Amino acid sequence: MTTMDDVVAAETVLSRVDGEGGRLVVHGLDLEDLVAAHGFEATAALLWGAIDPELGDLELGDPELGDAGEVARALGSARARAFARVPAILAATEDLAPIDALRAGIACLAADGDRAAVVLATAAMPVLLAAAFRRDRGLPPVAPDPALGQAADLLRMLDGTPADPGRVRALETYLVTVADHGMNASTFAARVIAATASDPVSAVAGAVGALKGPLHGGAPGPVLDMLDAVGTPANAAAWIAAALDRGERLMGFGHRIYRTRDPRADVLKAALAALGPRDPARTALAEAVERAARDALAVRYPGRRLDTNVEFYTALLLEAVGIDRALFTPMFGVGRVVGWTAHVLEQRATGRLIRPKARYVGPVPAGDTFRAAAN
Ligand code: ACO
Repeated sequence: MTTMDDVVAAETVLSRVDGEGGRLVVHGLDLEDLVAAHGFEATAALLWGAIDPELGDLELGDPELGDAGEVARALGSARARAFARVPAILAATEDLAPIDALRAGIACLAADGDRAAVVLATAAMPVLLAAAFRRDRGLPPVAPDPALGQAADLLRMLDGTPADPGRVRALETYLVTVADHGMNASTFAARVIAATASDPVSAVAGAVGALKGPLHGGAPGPVLDMLDAVGTPANAAAWIAAALDRGERLMGFGHRIYRTRDPRADVLKAALAALGPRDPARTALAEAVERAARDALAVRYPGRRLDTNVEFYTALLLEAVGIDRALFTPMFGVGRVVGWTAHVLEQRATGRLIRPKARYVGPVPAGDTFRAAAN
């Protein structure tokens, strides 16, 4: 079977995924250092500014601008602009799950120029997500507070009340951790769209569609479903063995690139610990499932280290922050949109269409000497 596993599809200055070393470098910073020193807005400035100095000129940390800086201000006012579209988007997405409402809602946005589109698409994600979530519970949308950072405002727009700083910190760590990750499937989708010289909003809408699949961003909800199905620590080993016997994949384990550890899992595990004591029964269950899955996968695939990936600890962290599991996949998009949009800018700057070939292996016209060929 032909795969694209070893194909280099672009040159990027945005992030490097070191699968053998279990390391993620984001524009010159190890993930651990990025998370320690950068909030969501600072990460956006780092990645956008790496490609477009003018977007990077939305400098952070200027005392005149308060502690969130200009990116926070630009995102805050763009959240307000996105909110103006909420009634029409909610009316058009009545029967859709939050991730599908997000995909459709993003597609409804319009901005004047690429830079404005990058900021608007990024700002719209939490606004649309929160509004769709509240709509499904019969609640009216909560207008954004442009003075807040994206993480704090998202929790506020979900709950209707200000969030405590511990939850905001934990969510912000999550959003920064998933902001960019090499040529992952949704980023590649965004780059393919951008490479046609289409606009950033279209690229983000396509990326949300790619993110939705359970082999990419759709895994963390099912991680909690798995914990619920296992039920008790004592049942973990038997449940895992039976699932593997049925040929099922254990959600939250394994990765296409990381052949040692997924560094994002460790960062999120630390963020979970920083949130303070949790329900002891849930903690014991999660630990038992992690141990049982790792052990069972090591026996079944001895040559391949299948460890916890970002999604396992995403599920535990977002659950502890109080996020409904129906929102886990769209929440991933709220963080990853920063990477998508930076990649879109980077791809656009190349001016080059992405157009790989397919090898035709179908039937040929009778008597034709035509042979399988790439086209
Ligand atoms: N559970 C059970 N078996 C697994 C798992 C798993 N989680 N992961 C891999 N395997 C098996 C594969 O089926 C394969 O078996 P086979 O040789 O009999 O076909 C073998 O281990 C080797 O597979 P890999 O080559 O390591 O896996 P691949 O690179 O094709 O897939 C993927 C990576 C899709 C992430 C896979 O590990 C998986 O499905 N995991 C569960 C879903 C998940 O957690 N997705 C989120 C990924 S992180 C992200 O996208 C943000």
